[in-house]
Amino acid sequence: MRRLIGTSWKMNLTATAAEKYCATLRPLIADITDRDLFILPPYTSIHAVRGALHGTGVRWGAQHVHPDDRGAHTGDVSAPMLADLGCTLVEIGHSERRRDYGETDRLVAAQAASIQRWGMTALVCVGEREPDTLPAAMNAIRPQLAVLADVDPARLIVAYEPVWAIGEGARAAQPVWIGEIHQAIHDRLATMHGDRRVPVIYGGSVDSGTAASILDRPGVDGLFVGRSALDPVEFARIAHAGTPSA
Ligand code: PGA
Repeated sequence: MRRLIGTSWKMNLTATAAEKYCATLRPLIADITDRDLFILPPYTSIHAVRGALHGTGVRWGAQHVHPDDRGAHTGDVSAPMLADLGCTLVEIGHSERRRDYGETDRLVAAQAASIQRWGMTALVCVGEREPDTLPAAMNAIRPQLAVLADVDPARLIVAYEPVWAIGEGARAAQPVWIGEIHQAIHDRLATMHGDRRVPVIYGGSVDSGTAASILDRPGVDGLFVGRSALDPVEFARIAHAGTPSA
């Protein structure tokens, strides 16, 4: 399976800053052919990113979507609007949205259905809130995965994002732990979707110092990067993790 390395900019980078970012990034990742890269800008920068990444092979997408296609939902954005902008993947279920907006697993299931109906891939974040034992962590993660039973596995990516490892002041989880959880998530997904392997990528304080050792673990299909990737040079370093040119 090709590795998948991407970033969500969260609520960072204006459209103007996004163009500069992509202009810096383009030559730095031009040699990458063996893995897939993606960028999830805020809505306001998607159009700029589309123009700036044209012809690079880097995919772009969004960080959130309303489950309905249209209607009276002030301030919201729907899957057909994102598909029309060339988005091919949409992140849902991030712990910051669960925390800030009380988003639930049921909403995640509805969002995933909408994303897939419009031909895009659902990138679903799962993870336990506190460091714990593996069985306890899987107890927290299992219901987050259970709502994906009816989702098409061909257009699904799961991001394992332990909440305690995300954001300012946090540190990435240990590679051995990440590998064990990823294996447990793969086992769980296999009971739901059979042989079709769903990519499971890791997110939480990834930087160029930790990327290669995390990517090296069996069961880790890629990386999902937050604050480190706000610097395009650092994102390019992470994108090369584990390659001879890293
Ligand atoms: P971080 O964010 O890399 O800044 O910890 C990760 C994430 O939320 O996906």
